[in-house]
Amino acid sequence: MTKYVNSLADLKTQISGWQRNGNKIGLVPTMGSLHEGHLSLISLAHENCDKVVTSIYVNPQQFSQTEDFDSYPRTLNKDLEKLSELRVCDLVFNPTQMYHESHATIIAPTGVAEPLEGQIRPHFFGGVATIILKLFNQIQPDIAIFGEKDYQQLLVIKQLTRDLDLPVQIIAGQTFRETDGLAMSSRNSYLSDSERKLAANIYRVMQITAENLQSGIEVSKAIQNAVNKLARVGINKIDYFSLRDPITLEPLSTFKKDARLLVALYVGATRLIDNIAVSFVQSGAINSEYNQLRET
Ligand code: PAF
Repeated sequence: MTKYVNSLADLKTQISGWQRNGNKIGLVPTMGSLHEGHLSLISLAHENCDKVVTSIYVNPQQFSQTEDFDSYPRTLNKDLEKLSELRVCDLVFNPTQMYHESHATIIAPTGVAEPLEGQIRPHFFGGVATIILKLFNQIQPDIAIFGEKDYQQLLVIKQLTRDLDLPVQIIAGQTFRETDGLAMSSRNSYLSDSERKLAANIYRVMQITAENLQSGIEVSKAIQNAVNKLARVGINKIDYFSLRDPITLEPLSTFKKDARLLVALYVGATRLIDNIAVSFVQSGAINSEYNQLRET
């Protein structure tokens, strides 16, 4: 069984031993309910450092009162089993207490934290930045891994690290997808069988939109087509389906350089997010992944 600690004191004992031995420490912050996407991030950490810490903590500060903090899947025993099988995680930090009762400090990220998720969930990135800064201070990792699945979160963490001179290298891990293209997410477990099938359209429509943009269709038209396609299959509640600058997240009304397509929508009552890179290539250059999906 993978070793795990619940208290800051036990964490410090373990970490200081590693630091004395000159080990390079990698951190993969998670909220648990681990799937293959998380495991790939943990393996990536292992490739880049000597000791890997996975934190498992469902952070109340990043949920609003109306969100799913209480129902968020908590599967600690299964998570520990998966980590044992993976064999590359040296320590799990599953804190019983993260905030003391009089905790009163929240980081307030602006810049890349402002659009998209920042507009719809204004509490979210403050909560994420605060917990990540705490984890960085507690664990003092040399590297930390974040998935591209949460692309805006990745940019917010890079900005936090740069702006506050945190001595941590941020490494991005690729999005892991189910065979039908749905991005792996702990929240996929909320979907019924029929919703799960419906959710496969998200990636398919994003891929079609990328191809449309690459073949010269105007941004506004390509996005309207996508929204219509999603509506036709019954996905009507869309928070955003937006083409953005991949570094600043500024909206792009024309497609003249590499871009990122970011999506947040509801399948039934479940809010899902996804994103893909849209590289600025000559028309007709469609990747084989897309061809495969189009045929299904
Ligand atoms: O992506 C997540 O699971 C969370 O936002 C994170 C980074 C672990 C912070 O709680």
